[in-house]
Amino acid sequence: MLTGCLRKGSKSTRLKMALMLLVLSCQFVHVLSEKSSSALTVLESTETSLDDEDAHHMEEESDPEDLDVFRPTDQWQSLKPGQAVPRGSHVRLNLQTRQREVKLGEHQIIKYQIDGQRQGKENTPGPSFNAEELKKALKNIKEGVDPETSDKEKEEEEALRAQFRPMEELKRDMAKLDMLMESDFQVISRLMSQFNSSNTTVEEKIKALHDLEYLVHQVDNAQNLASRGGLKLVVDALNSTDYRLQESAAFVLGSALSSNPVVQVEAVESGTLQKLLMLLATPRPMSVKKKALFAVASLLRHFPFAQSHFLKLGGLQVLGDLFRASEGGALRVRIVTILYDMINEKELISQTGLDPIPDASHNERLVQYAQVSLMPLLAEQGWCSLVPELLASPEHDWKEKALRTILAMMPHCQTQYRQDYTLSSSLHTLQEQYQELVLSEQVLGDEDGYFGEILALLETVLLKLK
Ligand SMILES: *[C@@H]1O[C@H](CO)[C@@H](O)[C@H](O)[C@H]1NC(C)=O
Ligand SMILES: *[C@@H]1O[C@H](CO)[C@@H](O)[C@H](O)[C@H]1NC(C)=O
Ligand SMILES: *[C@@H]1O[C@H](CO)[C@@H](O)[C@H](O)[C@H]1NC(C)=O
Repeated sequence: MLTGCLRKGSKSTRLKMALMLLVLSCQFVHVLSEKSSSALTVLESTETSLDDEDAHHMEEESDPEDLDVFRPTDQWQSLKPGQAVPRGSHVRLNLQTRQREVKLGEHQIIKYQIDGQRQGKENTPGPSFNAEELKKALKNIKEGVDPETSDKEKEEEEALRAQFRPMEELKRDMAKLDMLMESDFQVISRLMSQFNSSNTTVEEKIKALHDLEYLVHQVDNAQNLASRGGLKLVVDALNSTDYRLQESAAFVLGSALSSNPVVQVEAVESGTLQKLLMLLATPRPMSVKKKALFAVASLLRHFPFAQSHFLKLGGLQVLGDLFRASEGGALRVRIVTILYDMINEKELISQTGLDPIPDASHNERLVQYAQVSLMPLLAEQGWCSLVPELLASPEHDWKEKALRTILAMMPHCQTQYRQDYTLSSSLHTLQEQYQELVLSEQVLGDEDGYFGEILALLETVLLKLK
């Protein structure tokens, strides 16, 4: 039962993709204006062809004199209204902040390099024009429409024309570059069909998954992959016969699912959880299990629907068996982290429920989290005594994770813990150890150190056992 809220999520993604496509196909200069709520005003800058409406637009709303030319870098940066962007920049709309963001497009990076080489300036790979020149060029465009241009200005215009390569030549170059360069969208398509081809060797498939994993860290890329059937290909690879493919597929999934509700919904709907749990429940190399746990954690995070599904599929049982089987292993802390995150999320959402005016989606989430009855199951399946086993690990942060989880489970485990003398004696031993560590921390001048934090956790747990 998926909620309307989630469905809305995937609709807005389609809108977002459409917007991105629109934006990426724009030419030369985008003039963004706050007044036109239709978002983008696109300026086609051939020598003369500003159509009247655009020219009018520009005169009214953004005098090119005042135009601020944005200098993109290889990072996404927010664009202010009225800022112009050099051709080839990637522009996207951030739906959360409602701001437009821009970064250097691959075309530009390459173009700068090619231009640099042509002019024999290999050591100075920079733009072939600077912000001032671009401003002038924009001014020029406007004046090209204006008949009253003084001779001096005309000379300047000629000089500028000479500086800038003719549009036709630029277009030819761009066409060549388009053949050489691929957008993320194209790369994903290529990797998908490579991966899906019966001709591709296992090594090549692993390489393709590796490249995909890099790309899907970007929210839009992961959604592209999902919307074009690529996610299903990756999910299917989870039960391929080759362990390395299983591992790489789980890795791609974990990254694609991280903080990406649209992909999380799609993944649950295509049976990802069953396959991941199958990897965890059957004998596999450690590397496969680690990546599968990573994917499970990404899938469950902030997604109560997947969490209740996980419980229904017996996920807790699978994790319990894995915990028992991996004594002292690094899997244990990963498992406890997944549990802790689920308990904590639900706790946090019920606390923010005390806000005076909770919105509709918040209420929806409350309802969904209410259906995740994790705690009783945890107690029933022996987690009250499993989690404290992590206290024996040599790692401080593992012990910290165990203590936090013990505290989180306290309401359901308290009775059991009060009768558990092994637990209280190991807690007391730890208390002594950390008291000493805190002292040595203080000698080094660290008053609020990490060991102090762990000691405080220990004392809170001990207090609750009294
Ligand atoms: C597989 O490779 C062969 C030769 O390399 C080629 O002729 C054939 O078209 C390829 N098939 C597919 C489905 O790509
Ligand atoms: C994978 O290949 C099959 C045929 O070999 C095709 O039917 C399917 O649509 C392809 N899937 C994707 C996502 O390209
Ligand atoms: C993977 O599992 C599904 C069912 O979960 C099955 O239909 C499919 O044939 C399996 N594929 C392989 C390669 O084992």
